[in-house]
Amino acid sequence: MRNDSIIVLVGPPGAGKGTQAEKLEEKFSLIPLSTGQVLREEARKGSVLGQEAQAIMEQGDLVPDSLVAEIVRQRIEETNSSQAVLLDGFPRNLAQAALLDELKGERPVFVINIRVDEDVILKRLAARRYCVKCGKIYNFHLTTPQEEDVCDACGAQLVQRGDDREEVIKTRFRVYRDETEPLIEAYSQTQNYFAVDGNQKPQVVFEEISTKLIEVDPETGGSAVRPEQRSV
Ligand code: AP5
Repeated sequence: MRNDSIIVLVGPPGAGKGTQAEKLEEKFSLIPLSTGQVLREEARKGSVLGQEAQAIMEQGDLVPDSLVAEIVRQRIEETNSSQAVLLDGFPRNLAQAALLDELKGERPVFVINIRVDEDVILKRLAARRYCVKCGKIYNFHLTTPQEEDVCDACGAQLVQRGDDREEVIKTRFRVYRDETEPLIEAYSQTQNYFAVDGNQKPQVVFEEISTKLIEVDPETGGSAVRPEQRSV
């Protein structure tokens, strides 16, 4: 893998994108960007962006492309083509993929699709907590923190996400099917796309992704968008 690569994690809500992102960042020294995490942080700070995003996120819908575009643009430009970037949660539709194509320049893009069954996800999301300060993800079926509701990594509070309520999860699945599945279908036709079975244990999923990333052809990059679709 080239060191200016852009790696994109896609998959349904709760598939394990954030969990794998944490592990991949460390192993491959990647610069991470989770658009969901940035938006949650902005909401917590009460910024204009955060206030606008919060209501939409709590309903399970996607925030407008223009809001996430600026966040991603900044992160990709900051890395100055010298470090590989890991995108978790972006792009999420074909318009955002067109934006990524514009921003990536000559950098190769690798897309990893984490596939998980919906009934498995529902159980995972019911048991998920995350750290309000460092964003670390927990699942009470897998590991419990040493102290109840306190992050092992930074000592801040663990909370349940506002969008992990059952009715919101249903909306998130619908949005995923309507907006993101067509994007994944388009990416699946490209050279640097691969899918992994995310129903397995986190470490097994991580090893599969790592092996694929080590094997990939360093000279090519995937684009989900055909030239005639590049409208934004
Ligand atoms: P975002 O934060 O991106 O949420 P999501 O895509 O719904 O995904 P999640 O974060 O819920 O799950 P995940 O796949 O990271 O799974 P995790 O590792 O936590 O986005 C939230 C909202 O922000 C969106 O709805 C939208 O409103 C907005 N937004 C974000 N990006 C946007 C964009 N580009 N455009 C527009 N709007 C945007 O794992 C889940 C649980 O399972 C955890 O408890 C974990 O410990 C556990 N787990 C993980 N892997 C395993 C495993 N292999 N086995 C058992 N348990 C596991």
